[in-house]
Amino acid sequence: MNIAVLGTGVVGQVLASALAAKGHAVMMGTRDVQQALAREQKATGAQLTLAEWHRQNPQVGLGTFAEAAAFGEVVVNATSGFGALPALEAAGEANLDGKILIDVSNPLDFSRGMPPTLFVANTDSLGEQIQRRFPGSKVVKTLNTVNAYLMVNPRQLAGGDHTLFVSGDDAQAKATVAGYLRDWFGWEDVIDLGDITTARGTEMLLPIWVRLWGALQTPVFNFKVVRQAAGQ
Ligand SMILES: NC(=O)c1ccc[n+]([C@@H]2O[C@H](COP(=O)([O-])OP(=O)(O)OC[C@H]3O[C@@H](n4cnc5c(N)ncnc54)[C@H](OP(=O)(O)O)[C@@H]3O)[C@@H](O)[C@H]2O)c1
Repeated sequence: MNIAVLGTGVVGQVLASALAAKGHAVMMGTRDVQQALAREQKATGAQLTLAEWHRQNPQVGLGTFAEAAAFGEVVVNATSGFGALPALEAAGEANLDGKILIDVSNPLDFSRGMPPTLFVANTDSLGEQIQRRFPGSKVVKTLNTVNAYLMVNPRQLAGGDHTLFVSGDDAQAKATVAGYLRDWFGWEDVIDLGDITTARGTEMLLPIWVRLWGALQTPVFNFKVVRQAAGQ
């Protein structure tokens, strides 16, 4: 499948590598390809600069947000919270129309340092803002509650026995994405929370996620929802 991964940070790199390793044709999107490749700094949490990463992953195409979105049958938004709407605007509504848009972004505001705050919460979410702006795309919010390396390899922790969430207005798109999460990466426990307003809940997990990271001194952890079996 042709997959667009919008974003050149650690999430974009890890997702693009993992999807390409699965045999998918992947194009990563950025504002400016030459500028992104010229960056000498590694993205936060990344092991390589983008140029080094691309030398190791030459099968992944690099293009503008619009080129990548046009290429993808499915589009993944792995841009920063503040960058998400501008990046998708640059990707172009026509290139997103009718497509599943997997949104892994979080509305984190680091402008006052650590810990970050949420720039949208309670009565709205970034997932909803994206769905409202791009009504022709099927936004499915997921993977935003786990670290990049855990996204693509849940079995590295507790044999994969932990929980992921999906939020979105299109039931078929959510079921399709739950299938992708299982087939691409091995996610087994995926809870469909409901419509896109439920993204408020998963985005609002971030304040506790960040504090757990500090307390546990590792980003490799996750939530596991323990519940009564149906009918009990
Ligand atoms: N790090 C994790 O483990 C993790 C886990 C779960 C969810 N997330 C979420 O996943 C997303 C990506 O995280 P990340 O750490 O990989 O990368 P990031 O540093 O948050 O975002 C990098 C990407 O955002 C784009 N961007 C930034 N400002 C922009 C703007 N004004 N207009 C257009 N694009 C803009 C950059 O474009 P260029 O390529 O042009 O520079 C780059 O591709 C974030 O929303 C984050 O909260 C991260």
